[in-house]
Amino acid sequence: MLLDCVSDDKAELVLDGKKYLLPIIIGTEGERAIDIRSLRTETGHITIDSGYMNTGSCASQITFLDGEKGILNYRGYGIEDLAEHCSFVEVSYLLVHGTLPTGDELRRFRELLNLYSLIHEDMIHFFDHYPSNAPPMSILSSMVNSLSNYYPEMNENPLEDIDNMTARLISKVRTIAAFSYRKSYGSQLVMPRHDFSYCANFLNMMFDSPVKPYVVNDEVESALNKLLILHADHEQNCSTSTVRLVGSARVNLYASISAGISALWGPLHGGANMAVMDMLEEIHANGGDYKKYITKAKDRNDPFRLVGFGHRVYKNHDPRAQIIKEASEKVLKSLGVDDDPLLQIARELEDVALRDEYFVERKLYPNVDFYSGIIYRAIGIPQNMFTVMFALGRLPGWISHWREMWTDANWRIGRPRQVYVGPQRKKFVPLEDR
Ligand code: ACO
Repeated sequence: MLLDCVSDDKAELVLDGKKYLLPIIIGTEGERAIDIRSLRTETGHITIDSGYMNTGSCASQITFLDGEKGILNYRGYGIEDLAEHCSFVEVSYLLVHGTLPTGDELRRFRELLNLYSLIHEDMIHFFDHYPSNAPPMSILSSMVNSLSNYYPEMNENPLEDIDNMTARLISKVRTIAAFSYRKSYGSQLVMPRHDFSYCANFLNMMFDSPVKPYVVNDEVESALNKLLILHADHEQNCSTSTVRLVGSARVNLYASISAGISALWGPLHGGANMAVMDMLEEIHANGGDYKKYITKAKDRNDPFRLVGFGHRVYKNHDPRAQIIKEASEKVLKSLGVDDDPLLQIARELEDVALRDEYFVERKLYPNVDFYSGIIYRAIGIPQNMFTVMFALGRLPGWISHWREMWTDANWRIGRPRQVYVGPQRKKFVPLEDR
């Protein structure tokens, strides 16, 4: 077999002596892809690509990511500009609609978020029937799926009502997340307020108490806003691909997002920031000897890895990590908790690893998870809620991908093939002869 690029827009595949021309698709940022859609029909071959490391499942206008150069853009805007100048609500609008909102559009979107922030009273009772130790991601996934029973309008014509659906989901998931936390420790629910921003409202629902009113700290609100923006989309990652795949069967938005939440729950996907805190706690419990862990991470015979370092796609730097690092410094200072022993260990680890030849050579920088866990801990979010926070941020990304998939002219139900390696057809043996 031979594959050759014969022109800017064609690749030649030579297979069993026969030549086939395959179109090359070029993205707006110069990414190149060989279109193999006709491969099986024309050649009888399929491609195999476990983990889809080289498989483009769609063409998308939403997010551009260049891991080598450390670039992340949503709808053409750099993540740095969006994190600096926008609210999470604006970025959600941008992702779903494709353009930044005008003042009027933003006001209208905010009104919808306010309008839809309550959840049906019957759904509130659901919380009473989960075991108190139920993982919040499991509750979130089930509750989001249940929303389709209470707000089924979209089953008829999903795209007609997409503005309402988007606002409903973004608003209600925030309420569900805060309620699941309050229920988990037997505390009274705090209702959303119309006079608070999206992030301030969430913080208030999480932490307000009749005996100790919660005062929203500006730095905390700003850091949360940045964290949600930085997590809002990351093109075809595991949970987003899940949302697209489930949605490709033309299932409703709630069920598709619920599946995405389940995918994000996995420790290899959304669970890494929890793992960072576990690692810091372990180092602390073992006397704070972080150097021992650096040595372990470098030892080829030891499976231990410094969690929060390295990234599958960012091989230069994670553009989100620097923004989050700065936000974390501000939050810690503002809350007066920069002497937290776990945070000290995190700083020491980062400092040593950034200078250590092993990490420098392999381009292993702290990733977004390294800092996000630190901020969440500082603002009082319990560790088992970290992945829920990730889901809250990723929601507009999932919705925009679901919407794009729904309107894609090339849409097909997702149905990969396989190479069968099991036994060949055998003669059936009746039960009495086995
Ligand atoms: N600590 C120590 N060594 C590491 C680490 C680490 N965190 N990450 C990679 N390495 C080493 C590997 O041992 C390997 O060394 P070698 O060349 O001597 O064999 C080299 O760096 C390359 O590692 P790969 O596993 O090939 O890198 P890959 O891109 O496949 O892995 C990953 C990326 C999975 C994120 C990895 O860096 C890792 O396990 N990090 C820790 C877990 C983590 O932080 N996950 C969250 C990622 S961010 C996110 O998902 C939002």
